[in-house]
Amino acid sequence: MYKVYSYTSTNSSNNKMMKAKIVSIVVIFHMTLLNMVNAQTPVYQDANQPIEKRIESALSLMTLEEKVAMCHAQSKFSSRGVPRLGIPEIWMTDGPHGIREEVFWDQWDGAKWTNDSCTAFPALTCLAASFNPEISSLYGKSIGEEARYRNKGVLLGPGVNIYRTPLNGRNFEYMGEDPYLSSRMVVPYVQAVQQNGVAACVKHFALNNQEKDRMGINVEVSDRALYEIYLPAFKAAVQEGKAWSIMGAYNQFRGQHCCHNDLLLNKILKNDWQFDGAVISDWGGVHNTEQSVYNGLDLEMGTSTNGLTTDGTSPYSEYYLANPYLQGLKSGKYSEKELNEKVTRLLRLIFRTTMAANRPFGKYVSPEHSEAARKIAEQGIVLLKNDKQTLPIPVGKYRRIAVIGDNAVRSLVVGGGSSSLKVAYEVSPLEGLKAKYGAETIAFSKGYSADLDDRKPESKTVADSLLAAAVATARNADVVIFVGGLNKNWFQDSEGDDRKSMALPYNQDKVINALMATNKNLTVILCSGNAVEMPWLSQVPALVQAWYLGSEAGNAIANIISGEVNPSGKLPFSFPKKLEDNAAHSFGQMSYPGDGKKQEYKEDILVGYRWFDTKKIVPQFPFGYGLSYSTFEYGKMSADKKEYAKTDIVKVVFTVKNTGKTDGAEIAQVYMSQPKASVVRPVKELKAFKKVYLKAGETQTVELELKVKDFAFYNDKTQTWDVEPGEFVLCNAASSANIKSKVSISVK
Ligand code: BGC
Repeated sequence: MYKVYSYTSTNSSNNKMMKAKIVSIVVIFHMTLLNMVNAQTPVYQDANQPIEKRIESALSLMTLEEKVAMCHAQSKFSSRGVPRLGIPEIWMTDGPHGIREEVFWDQWDGAKWTNDSCTAFPALTCLAASFNPEISSLYGKSIGEEARYRNKGVLLGPGVNIYRTPLNGRNFEYMGEDPYLSSRMVVPYVQAVQQNGVAACVKHFALNNQEKDRMGINVEVSDRALYEIYLPAFKAAVQEGKAWSIMGAYNQFRGQHCCHNDLLLNKILKNDWQFDGAVISDWGGVHNTEQSVYNGLDLEMGTSTNGLTTDGTSPYSEYYLANPYLQGLKSGKYSEKELNEKVTRLLRLIFRTTMAANRPFGKYVSPEHSEAARKIAEQGIVLLKNDKQTLPIPVGKYRRIAVIGDNAVRSLVVGGGSSSLKVAYEVSPLEGLKAKYGAETIAFSKGYSADLDDRKPESKTVADSLLAAAVATARNADVVIFVGGLNKNWFQDSEGDDRKSMALPYNQDKVINALMATNKNLTVILCSGNAVEMPWLSQVPALVQAWYLGSEAGNAIANIISGEVNPSGKLPFSFPKKLEDNAAHSFGQMSYPGDGKKQEYKEDILVGYRWFDTKKIVPQFPFGYGLSYSTFEYGKMSADKKEYAKTDIVKVVFTVKNTGKTDGAEIAQVYMSQPKASVVRPVKELKAFKKVYLKAGETQTVELELKVKDFAFYNDKTQTWDVEPGEFVLCNAASSANIKSKVSISVK
């Protein structure tokens, strides 16, 4: 309120008094004004104030009930803000390949909005196969813009669980088998998403490396494998990417569920890595109030509440971190310390996203996003075999092209679990090829079929007739393109369970053999997020790994097949010849899939190529492998010194020359080995890579820097990262199985 004074002055003492009174009026006036401004903009609402001050301010105004209400879901994909204080709710979305459609408040079903059809970006295996951190940044920027436009505060992705077995139904959502590659690729994704004022939620922390029995299986793994293989990508996302949130995994680790796991969340994530973001549970991953209070969880999502999750009452109040928590706080069982810590992190998340200053506005299904999706797809497609230059197939070369296969026409963005998308559009391989070569040039036959709803293959009669029709189509064609692989059906590349075997499903081996017997000019394109058995490989002249490519799938495939774009992806995981060759499968049931309750990662640190190399097992296709329509020649690598200190950086240099007739890109890799060590070390470990663009005939010098400290192994006795002095061998390579030259250095 303004205070009003009236004065009449008659003498000098009166004058003095009056002066004093005027001063006090002015002061009071100013203070009142200031209070009014403050009343209008409390500190927590002032986006120009430091975030920690805003948190302090909001926290001081909140009731116990309001605090608890923030720590659990209020709907399938949102959690409560503080309505009384104008602090908004947190809205989340899957992730990681596009922005999920809106679902009903309390159900998984799509809510049938008409404004939520998104751009589908390629699956993360494809992104990893690009070996290009810049393209990962483009991915993060684009999907972040879509999330922002849809008013989401948290994007539930990216996923960086390590590819341990080709049976894992969710490998397509992750970035392959190598901790270094996935670390380099996840950081720019996270950073670019968050530049939109949208939090990345890196998932699933940790050791969710299979879908089978995922809700409860207790994973036992050595400290060394944990730190060297399974954690680095999460650590990079947190420390370099500065991820604002992380999602706990469903499984258990050393006897505690990962969503409330003291070692993973308190010790490693929050203490050792100094993570200052929010830990969000996986949907239904919380099982216990006390552990949730103490073991590092901040926000509980998706808990099933004994049937109350359908409409009506307020079942969210029954969550482990809802009423049971509130009661415990009121009875004195829990102190407010942990609660304030959780709310602090959730407020920080809100102030970084929805209440951030200068938050951009995003955009949705824009031409730039289509272009980004296509570029990422083109950079990730891997040419695995190309005998007698079967590919490319230039436009106009053939009059009749047969396209065979269910995946040429099936939607590969729908299904697969939480990453399923409702898209604005999806160009199928058939549509892309027709657009490229002309519809009149293309004859399509399905060859095989897999019904998405029944999750069963067609009957034998249907299978036989589909096969016969495909053979007839192939017979009349100059060239045959088979588009098969896996799909997003249950027990394929899908969340919730694993594949039953490594074989191609739905009669496809038989179809490929029959096509080969009919027309030898055959290219096989596999869409999948996993390795498959290839009993027909020696017969088939050309093979392309095309992942799941999203909205622009058909265009990207057609650009590669026609040669308009030169393939430049390399495999982010090894393709074994048979399942038993894979490390996790070499130790019987307890290693994979476990006995339903427990499993032991018996291969320890020897995951992926580390296993194939060390055990001298030849894979079908090695990690880091991929061809181009061009050829590349590597020069001998040299290092800047002979001897290094543990804190030094090794600078290596070598040339790469495009010796072919086509412009293209080569992914040059540098691996490190330690021939003599006090512990088992893999034959080699990836330590650097670079995608080099070279015009036909061009030579470039590649310079890479390797930190000696990154040559360390994790010593589980002392819990330290140790670099043992002695000899290290570095090699430049075109894949993990194609070494070009070696240089020996010593570390003192
Ligand atoms: C998945 C998560 C996903 C969540 C929300 C869970 O089943 O494991 O990756 O983000 O559902 O859809």
